[in-house]
Amino acid sequence: MSRRLGVGLLGVGWMGALHTRAYRRLTDHYPELDVRCELVAAADVGESGRRRAVEELGYARAEPDWRAVVDDPDVDVVSVTAPNALHREMALAVLAAGKALWVEKPVGRGLAETAAVAAALGPGAVTAVGFNYRTVPLVEHAGALVAAGALGRITGFRGWFLNDYASNPWGPLNWRFSRDGAGSGALGDLMSHVVDLATALLGPLREVVAVTDVAIARRPYAAGEGEHFATLGPGALEPPGDDVPTGEVENEDSARVLARFASGASGFLEVDRAAVGPHCSLGFEIHGSTGSLSWDFERMNELQLYLADTTGDAGYRRVLARPGHGDYGRFQPGPAISMSYDDLKVIEAARFVGAVLTGDPLAPGLAEALSAARAVDAMERSAASRAWEAVA
Ligand SMILES: NC(=O)c1ccc[n+]([C@@H]2O[C@H](COP(=O)([O-])OP(=O)(O)OC[C@H]3O[C@@H](n4cnc5c(N)ncnc54)[C@H](O)[C@@H]3O)[C@@H](O)[C@H]2O)c1
Repeated sequence: MSRRLGVGLLGVGWMGALHTRAYRRLTDHYPELDVRCELVAAADVGESGRRRAVEELGYARAEPDWRAVVDDPDVDVVSVTAPNALHREMALAVLAAGKALWVEKPVGRGLAETAAVAAALGPGAVTAVGFNYRTVPLVEHAGALVAAGALGRITGFRGWFLNDYASNPWGPLNWRFSRDGAGSGALGDLMSHVVDLATALLGPLREVVAVTDVAIARRPYAAGEGEHFATLGPGALEPPGDDVPTGEVENEDSARVLARFASGASGFLEVDRAAVGPHCSLGFEIHGSTGSLSWDFERMNELQLYLADTTGDAGYRRVLARPGHGDYGRFQPGPAISMSYDDLKVIEAARFVGAVLTGDPLAPGLAEALSAARAVDAMERSAASRAWEAVA
């Protein structure tokens, strides 16, 4: 008989809905887990979030106080998908209750909060952190090519996450733009993903030098709960006039970073949440002594691969995702039938729930989140000191 797992959800926004859909799809794509995820309870401070949890997502009930969900004895696994400012307190409560934790990135509003959660990890605790781009089948294939030496000795890495969600000056001043709500800006939100990919592919960073900028210094005050992609007013590129009340953006819109890896390779890492043009361009290029590869999330199911030969006519070839690359075969039966962003969360959910059922170690978990937070912290220190900083 299949095992029952009670699911609790803290925060019913974009990610809360996505985690829920991922739990629901597990039996479709990973039947051998033989698990029945029961949506026990969700928490949200907003009434619309609570209504959505029950009417749309299928939770048995919704609570205004997240502690009632964590304390519910029928809840075995908890997804933390609330804004960053709440992650530390929520994650600590989940671990203290002895429950498995799936927490969105960044785990805290900086290194100290992430380290506090990592320090609370007891033996046998199962944690997953939402670095969902690691699970892209062609990213896993790229990692396997690098590890097998297909590119020779790795000399260079270029990683980026260029996004336009904050490019409109009419985008409301929601929690993402305040130190208190988010901690850092593009560094915690976007660079944490880039650093996690860089580390998964090439190993840890040793030192960095960074510059950061704010592109849009003031934004109109958010009305209500303020969604990630919302815009107020006309949605024009001209900023609001003096007649619209605005508040200060307290964290960086972009960061550009030179890096040295512990392996000796060098890299350039770039993030921008206010880029006009790229919508969701997260990618990397890796260069080695006998080849190169590149990948971008905007073309998630394609990898560009160059393997040197002696003819002088070698060129990049386009590798399309197929069964055999990572978990692609769980979703599509043949090559080049595109997978989606939501599918990545299903893979993440399967690995999380699989670890809960077996007790096997899981990555990326809190150890990987701590490693990313250390690198991001060094970048923040470097932007302030205007000097190279070591990654702790
Ligand atoms: N892995 C990824 O690619 C990815 C993508 C987007 C967001 N995220 C992360 O997910 C988290 C949530 O982001 P989002 O885009 O879903 O945000 P969101 O603003 O859409 O949703 C957050 C929800 O939390 C609720 N909330 C606020 N305070 C609460 C409280 N005290 N108790 C319970 N609920 C509360 C809000 O009402 C809202 O419904 C962030 O940490 C973000 O960095 C990760």
